[in-house]
Amino acid sequence: MPVPRLEIRNLVRLFDGRRVVDEVSLRIMPGQVTCLLGPSGCGKSTTLRMIAGVEMQDSGEIWVDGKLVCDTVFRVPPERRQIGLMFQDFALFPHLSVAGNVAYGLKGSKDEKRARVAELLERVDLLRFIDGYPHQLSGGEQQRVALARALAPRPRIMLMDEPFSGLDNRLRDGIRDETLSLLKEEDTAVLLVTHEPDEAMRMADEIALMRDGRIVQQGAPYNVYTRPVDRAAVAFFSDANVLRAQVNGALAQTPFGQFLAPGVPDRTDVDIVFRPQHVKIDFDRNGQGPLPTPTDGVPARAQVVRARFMGHESLVEFRVDYDGSILKATVPNVFLPAAGTVMWLTVRRDRCFVFPATSGKAAAFGEGR
Ligand SMILES: Nc1ncnc2c1ncn2[C@@H]1O[C@H](COP(=O)(O)OP(=O)(O)O)[C@@H](O)[C@H]1O
Ligand SMILES: [Mg+2]
Repeated sequence: MPVPRLEIRNLVRLFDGRRVVDEVSLRIMPGQVTCLLGPSGCGKSTTLRMIAGVEMQDSGEIWVDGKLVCDTVFRVPPERRQIGLMFQDFALFPHLSVAGNVAYGLKGSKDEKRARVAELLERVDLLRFIDGYPHQLSGGEQQRVALARALAPRPRIMLMDEPFSGLDNRLRDGIRDETLSLLKEEDTAVLLVTHEPDEAMRMADEIALMRDGRIVQQGAPYNVYTRPVDRAAVAFFSDANVLRAQVNGALAQTPFGQFLAPGVPDRTDVDIVFRPQHVKIDFDRNGQGPLPTPTDGVPARAQVVRARFMGHESLVEFRVDYDGSILKATVPNVFLPAAGTVMWLTVRRDRCFVFPATSGKAAAFGEGR
């Protein structure tokens, strides 16, 4: 078994008796990027601060390269953990040159330092600014200097807390990609904190989805997206359609026909959850929709409530005749049917998730974004 670069085991942090971080465990290999993804306040930054050593856990252990770095008794001080940090409000030292900033945490002779500084500035494509000052750089350039500074001492682990959220959208994509390739080249293990699913999908080898202090799901982005553990996990990544249905004889009756609900007791409510991009739309032909199929189930007759053009896709809202449910569908390009138009909807069965019904809490977590 290869030894993880970073491993945390059952980390717990209490504030005022509340478990803000609750039994969080993670393993990150060298060169791997793990994203801790979750809504604001779920405990991401607190987790990161404990790993950095600036916050002390109430219980749990932190291991680096198979060596214990911190438990509740033993503690390697932050500056000896070989951990690099990058935060949103990274600040360069305004009175130091770019070279001075990047060299800040470096040890060794003047020549050695200068060589490492030049190497990193070359990598972030800012060598020409080596003797410039922070105020002469754009926001994106400053960010790249901050990255070079964090990487200069060759940290074994890089902890990044929403490092790109201060940058404007168009700049952000490029800097994310550059950062990622640099970190991979250096074989650093990266723990990146973000509340943005898009960022996590783009950056992560592995996503750890966090909620109320706990990791509720962990895996490759594809798996987390396509096999969500609950309704809130679906809704955190995209809009979600939810049909509430009651189970009878292990079957839930919906506008799209019956769904299997094995092992669910009679008269229990379930939520059938699916994403707008998985709703298929067919035109009405003399009062008929498409024929039912095993993959798509039964088509549901619905009327357009409103349709909006969103740029790369159109968002159409429907009211389903069967029970008045409102469902959203997205369609590539321009598709703007008039309100009241009758259409038929189907959803591929394997894109639907059946979960125990949840109340308001799930909605607060991410629905209706
Ligand atoms: N020093 C502190 N004292 C008391 N509560 C705190 C402290 N730091 C964070 N918290 C609380 O812990 C929870 C998690 O915070 P944080 O880890 O910053 O969340 P995130 O980074 O996911 O937004 C929040 O409810 C926050 O208010
Ligand atoms: Mg935070």
